[in-house]
Amino acid sequence: MTVDFTVTRNTNPTSPERRAEILADPGFGKHFTDHMVRIDWHGDHVDSGEWSNAQVLPYGPLSLDPAASVFHYGQEIFEGIKAYRQADGSITTFRPEENAARLNKSAQRLVLPELPEDLFTEAIRQLVSIDADWVPSGDGESLYLRPFMISTEAFLGIRPAHEVSFFVIASPAGNYFGTPKPVDIWLSTNYARAGVGGTGEAKCGGNYAASLAAQLEGEANGCKQVIFKDPNRDDAIEELGGMNVFFVFADGKIVTPELTGTILRGITRKSIIKLAQERGHTVEERRFTLEEWRQGVASGEITEIFACGTAAVITPVGKLKAADFEISSPSGEDGGAVTMALREELVGMQTGKVEDRFGWNVKL
Ligand code: PLP
Ligand code: COI
Repeated sequence: MTVDFTVTRNTNPTSPERRAEILADPGFGKHFTDHMVRIDWHGDHVDSGEWSNAQVLPYGPLSLDPAASVFHYGQEIFEGIKAYRQADGSITTFRPEENAARLNKSAQRLVLPELPEDLFTEAIRQLVSIDADWVPSGDGESLYLRPFMISTEAFLGIRPAHEVSFFVIASPAGNYFGTPKPVDIWLSTNYARAGVGGTGEAKCGGNYAASLAAQLEGEANGCKQVIFKDPNRDDAIEELGGMNVFFVFADGKIVTPELTGTILRGITRKSIIKLAQERGHTVEERRFTLEEWRQGVASGEITEIFACGTAAVITPVGKLKAADFEISSPSGEDGGAVTMALREELVGMQTGKVEDRFGWNVKL
């Protein structure tokens, strides 16, 4: 599909001095680049509408009718993907076709229109090329891209909207947690983020809204992240609020919860499974219970735990805390050897320091 983008340059962009200041310590999700992408959709039905009006615009507030259905019924989906500065100065992104496919799966669940995969990648290319100076080159740094889709039609009945817009914004990113040290996590027992037949597998804002009360509970208990159990399968561990989880065993086996339809199909998860298998690990995607976690750490069988996602990359997990018990951290202060080797290989591949054996990098 070829769509011509109209480009309107920001006439009041961030000064080079201010940008350098931001890039010196980008943090995560705090600063935004000078432009954004917008593409509009109109149609009576998700299968028969049309995408048009593709634009690169100055970054800035949106004007929406207060009755726009996204405000009332939450028809919203998003993605997270990064652009990386390579040693030769060029810029790449990682497996964008996977994000495009997942966006469309989320779209199906939320009855939003699918966006052609090549238009998704082209939107990213357009934004990264106009804001190329914002792609950092420091260790572990990148430009985090946030594609998202919202229903914009103004009406109050409950039905899928006939007007929708897709956007991409960008934000320079350093370490998500501000530290590479293991993060302690809170086991949510009061709250669930997803259930069978719900939207757990979709990347939609509502899932994150549903996780916030648990996140606050976790923070009040000294934890930076929350892990959720499958509410329908009682003791089965699912995923964190914004990451998938892996358990490394002393015999080299690696276990991660299977994709049951209630957890996000992480692209980092999928990539790690491949890299771990290549390194000779047996990777099991299966039901993994809290009891197995408890016993595995107590017996020394589980030697490392890590969480992964685009924003957080690979982060060692420390203690598991819950209202009435705690499981101590098997990971050392700096994360375990397997965790750190996988992290180094993945980041190395993304930034061109390790050969891209699977053709995962796409030049922008
Ligand atoms: N699980 C949740 C709930 C997430 O928000 C994310 C982040 O995108 C992930 C898992 C990891 O997915 P990915 O590796 O595709 O970023
Ligand atoms: C991502 O990793 O891209 C996410 O969407 C998760 C969020 C914690 C930032």
